[in-house]
Amino acid sequence: MTSPGDSARISPTAHYTGYVWARHGLGAREFATRQGRLAWYGLRPLMAASRAFGGPTLEGLLLARHRVIDHLLTEAITSGRVGQVLELAAGMSPRGRSFVTRFGDRITYVEADLPGMAERKRRALARMGPSAGPHRVESVDVLAESGPLSLSAAAGRLDPERGLAVITEGLLSYLPPAGLTGLWERIAGLTGRFPHGLYLSDLHLGQENSGPLESATKKLLAAVVRGRLYFHHGRASDAEAALRAAGFATATLHRPVDFRGGIPGVGAPGADRVRIVEARTGEPRPCA
Ligand SMILES: C[S@@+](CC[C@H](N)C(=O)[O-])C[C@H]1O[C@@H](n2cnc3c(N)ncnc32)[C@H](O)[C@@H]1O
Repeated sequence: MTSPGDSARISPTAHYTGYVWARHGLGAREFATRQGRLAWYGLRPLMAASRAFGGPTLEGLLLARHRVIDHLLTEAITSGRVGQVLELAAGMSPRGRSFVTRFGDRITYVEADLPGMAERKRRALARMGPSAGPHRVESVDVLAESGPLSLSAAAGRLDPERGLAVITEGLLSYLPPAGLTGLWERIAGLTGRFPHGLYLSDLHLGQENSGPLESATKKLLAAVVRGRLYFHHGRASDAEAALRAAGFATATLHRPVDFRGGIPGVGAPGADRVRIVEARTGEPRPCA
């Protein structure tokens, strides 16, 4: 059972993804760490073997998920619905910096992660110089139900008058079932207090991840994080129902390929192993 604080063992995976984003020009080199480069070279033989046999690659999956989330977030901001973003488990993702560079004062971007990773991110951002708009990194433990590291403490520092998007990327498969349900309930409750509430995430479905590479990658990642990995829902309809049960008014699980024509790489091998959650809350509810 994962308890608050215990999931710090997941943090090394953020170095791998941070290296992938930088390698593909999605973010600055400051987010690519030495650990990330070592992990990338470590996985390279497995990915090369899969590619050689026409199979999926982790990079195809990661780039598709990242770009689709970027796309949906861009739409929400340019439509005026969202004016602030809370990205949980942000790791070494370049999204906060990139969006603040693009949108300046039109958005407030809050990145959050466990204290050690949050501190590391603050240092990377400091090396890059001032951000072009409101942008900060906070310590949040997504499993904490109360206290200074909780989601509700972070929400209390947001502007209640502006639409809010909450993002989790690369996190959900590491959470045990009860942790995921509790997190979705807290996010739905929190986003429901803002004029517009949007939740974006990636999610892996059991029925789309049953091949040999998925099993090998799952085992490898489980060994790296010294814990289990979960595909919480078998089908998209199961996940959509779980999101509605958690308190979202609407929930859709997009396939990256649905965005072909608008986003590069969404048809790459591996991209069909991930879904993108877009869930919304209804009219704002009064604070409890
Ligand atoms: C695979 S990385 C993803 C990082 C980033 N979102 C990305 O896609 O590049 C997983 C992240 O989850 C963070 N994490 C793990 N457990 C957490 C928790 N209980 N609360 C907040 N963040 C957590 C880790 O520190 C790490 O940064």
